[in-house]
Amino acid sequence: MATQAHDLVFTHRFVSGSDPTTLLLLHGTGGNEDDLLPLGRELAPNAALLSPRGRVLERGMPRFFRRLAEGVFDQQDLALRTDELAGFVAAAASQYKFDAGRVIAVGYSNGANIAASVLLKHPRVLSGAVLFHPMVPFEPAPLPSLPGTPVFMSAGTADAMVPRPLTERLAELLRASGGRVTVHWENGGHELSRSEVDAARAWLSLASIPNT
Ligand code: MLT
Repeated sequence: MATQAHDLVFTHRFVSGSDPTTLLLLHGTGGNEDDLLPLGRELAPNAALLSPRGRVLERGMPRFFRRLAEGVFDQQDLALRTDELAGFVAAAASQYKFDAGRVIAVGYSNGANIAASVLLKHPRVLSGAVLFHPMVPFEPAPLPSLPGTPVFMSAGTADAMVPRPLTERLAELLRASGGRVTVHWENGGHELSRSEVDAARAWLSLASIPNT
C-alpha cells in the first residue's frame, strides 16, 4: 500500500519502544487515544504503542466506524474506515520508522471490531491481534489468507452485546482463514476484566508472532 504523509489522518499518540513490535491500540465507543496506553504498556512493556482516536462521532462519542443500531454496522462505512485505518498504519510506520511487518492490534469492543475487520480485509497489515469482546464485523467472501496469524479473543458468557454464537463465528472465520485462534471466556459481561488482561498478557508473551 502506498504510504503518504497525508494518510496520517487519525488524531493519535505514538510512544516508541525498545523492541521491534508495535501495538496498535483501538479503544471502545466513547474512548480516545489515551485510554489504552496503560493497557498497552502492561501487555507488552517494551513495544512501541500507536493509538489512534476513532474518527466517527456517535452523539459525541468517538468510534472507528458508524453503526445503524447496537450491533448493526454500516457496512459501507466500515469498509471505508477499515481501508483508512490500514493506510494509517502504513503511513505511521514510515513516519515513526517502526517495522510495518510487526504490528499487533489490541482492541476492545468497537476497537476489537475494527481490528477484526482489518484482519479480514487487509490480512497483511497485522501480524497478530488481541480482540477483547469482538463481534463479526462482516462475513468475508472469499476468506482472507491469515496463515498462522495468532489471535487472542476474549468474551463474556453473560455479554448482552455479544451473544456467544457471534464470538464462535468470528473464531471460526479466523481459523478457516488459517489463523491460530485462542478464545478466552470470562463469566461476565461486556466489561474488560483483570483476569482477561492477565490472560492476554500471558498469551502475548508466549505467542510467536510472524512478520507479515
Ligand atoms: C460497542 O460497544 O461499540 C459495540 O459493542 C461494538 C460496536 O458497535 O462496534
